[in-house]
Parts: sequence; structure tokens; C-alpha cells
Amino acid sequence: MATRQLSTLGGHPEGFAATMRADRWWVAPASTVFGLLAFAVYVTWAAFQGEHYYASPYLSPLYSPVIYLDPSAAGAAPLWHVWFKGPWPAWWPDWLPRSPAFFILVFPGVFRFTCYYYRKAYYRSFTASPPACAVSPGATGRAYRGETAWLIFQNLHRYTMYFAVAFIFILTFDALAAFFHDGRFGIGVGTVVLLLNAVLLGAYTFGCHSLRHLVGGHDDCMSCGKATLRLKLWRGSSALNVNHMKFAWASLIWVGLTDLYVRLVSMGVIHDLNTWGH
Ligand code: FES
Repeated sequence: MATRQLSTLGGHPEGFAATMRADRWWVAPASTVFGLLAFAVYVTWAAFQGEHYYASPYLSPLYSPVIYLDPSAAGAAPLWHVWFKGPWPAWWPDWLPRSPAFFILVFPGVFRFTCYYYRKAYYRSFTASPPACAVSPGATGRAYRGETAWLIFQNLHRYTMYFAVAFIFILTFDALAAFFHDGRFGIGVGTVVLLLNAVLLGAYTFGCHSLRHLVGGHDDCMSCGKATLRLKLWRGSSALNVNHMKFAWASLIWVGLTDLYVRLVSMGVIHDLNTWGH
């Protein structure tokens, strides 16, 4: 009987995508390619619109916080939402739409891109190195060097984490502001959509490996001594961290759907059911 040669490193047969696994291991990396590409295309498209990102009292999370505002844009946010109330920056190039999203998306973008979970996902799905556990990456021609050389930029994660935490407070404020239309308290479908968006993004961000390390993970013994605030924070972050992958996907999909909902309401394509009666 013929025997297949096994890699001395991974215990799998040699050759690209060779494996002894009998399950459909390729579903996860293939879904990741589709999901991440679809999200990247939608967010890029939405950022380039520069309009219809606000439908009172709902502000799209892809445009929050609003650093500068072009009030002449259709579906623009009201002035009280804007951080710098002056005119649009004169240095802005004419060929680029006046979109407030361009000022902010780099922070959550880099935070997501360097997330420990997403690294695993796109290393597997886009570079197939390796495509899955016990599946051969084939002949790469180069020894594995870890996240050294240019990949060291992944360390930006621990810095963008601070911005990501700040964004959670901002988006929570937006969700609370979505309870008030023209100064009147109420609730609409959009309020629930924005609230759920803040919750999911919070669950993703507060379960971040870097944040978990920051609040207590670097201590040698978290269970020694009496329970401290640090221990409680670490336990809370750990509880969220267990489902980090699920929150990563749920929050990614929901933030895109939230923008889509606000956009469609702003454009008049759909009507928001609410207690304000507008
Ligand atoms: S590790 Fe995923 S957000 Fe930090």
C-alpha cells in the first residue's frame, strides 16, 4: 500500500493545501475572504459618498465623530454634531469628495486590521500560510519569521486600541442621542440599530487581547490577594475575549448594516418606524 510523505513540521502531507483532514476545512478561509472583501468594498464606497450619513436623529457610525462638515451635502449631520465648526479645510484636494469619514476611518481600520483574531483569519485566507490547521501551505520558499521585518507594524494594535476605546464612548453617545428628535424623547428602529451597534462594538473592543493585557493580564498572579478592580476588569475582559471572533464578525457586519440603514432612511428609500411620527 502506498504511503504519503508527511511533513516533519506540521504532520500533514506536503504540497499546497494537502491535508489528511476529512472535514470541509476550506469553508472558514473562503468565508473570510468573501466577508472581509465585501466589507472593505462597502465601507470604501460609503466613505466616498460624503452624503446621506445622517437621518435625524441617527448618525452613521462610519462618519462618527464628525470632525469637519460640509453642510451643503445632502443628508449631512447638523452643526451641533461637528467638532470643528469652521469651513471645510482649504487644503482638501478637489478630486476627493468632502467626506467626514476620511478623517476617522483610519483608526478603527488599523485597529481591525491588526487585531489578533483578524491576523489569523487573513493570514490563513489571503496568504494561505497555512490555510488551516494541519493543512499544508505548500512550498513557501522562505522560512517562517513570525511578525518581524515589515510585519512589525502589527504592533500598532496596542496603540490604536486607545482610539478604539474612545470610539466606543462616542458611539454610545450617538446611540443615546438617537433617543431625541427635535428635543423630544422617543425611540425608533434606528435607535435600536445604533444602540446594538455600540453594544457589539463595545463587546468586541473590551474583549481585545491588548486591552485585557493592559487591565491586568501582565500581572503574574491575578487571583492572589483580595479581589481588586483590576481583577474584575480582567475577568470582564476575559469573558468577552472568549468570544472575540464572534464579536469581531457580529460588530463588523452590524456596523455596515447600521450605515446602510441610516443611509436608506436619509435617502427616503425606507421609512423609519418611530414614536416621533415623522
Ligand atoms: S485583539 Fe482583536 S481587537 Fe485587539
